Amino acid sequence: MKRRILHYGEEPLRQESKPVTTIDDDLRALVKDMFETMYQAHGVGLAAPQVGVNLRLFLIDTGNAPMVFINPEIVKTSGKEICEEGCLSFPGLREKVERPARVIARATDLEGKEFEVQADGLLARAIQHELDHLDGVLFIDRISKARRIQLKRDLERIAAGESLEPDDDADQADEEA
Ligand code: NI
Repeated sequence: MKRRILHYGEEPLRQESKPVTTIDDDLRALVKDMFETMYQAHGVGLAAPQVGVNLRLFLIDTGNAPMVFINPEIVKTSGKEICEEGCLSFPGLREKVERPARVIARATDLEGKEFEVQADGLLARAIQHELDHLDGVLFIDRISKARRIQLKRDLERIAAGESLEPDDDADQADEEA
């Protein structure tokens, strides 16, 4: 079942999410719903708070394979990279964000196994973007204050439930998370 993606301005996006304590049928159903929601929105990542569930869980599929990250943490970062980023909770908004270029992340998968992933490029960016969501941090928090002031009107429109895309077409949204 597809779930509604919360947009900027909705409270759960700003809350600190709680660790997942049990991997049960409810959690598996949530993950299934989240994948359906993410693919339908042409996203490469989706965090549980974006569907209104404040649990430390996100999904990523950058085109290689679907990945589930439960209780994730970043254990190491290196380098720096500025890249344009989008977010499914900010329809139509894309901004340049600086983040570490490479990360090593650790998480638990849906079978309860702990795994570690070394990532660069889009995967590294997606992991950091999604992990931020679990701490109530949004990508606009990582751009300059001056730029944020310039975007005030756009952000107000998104908070009012509008999309910045002229025809609300998701074709441009291939790298949103
Ligand atoms: Ni996002």
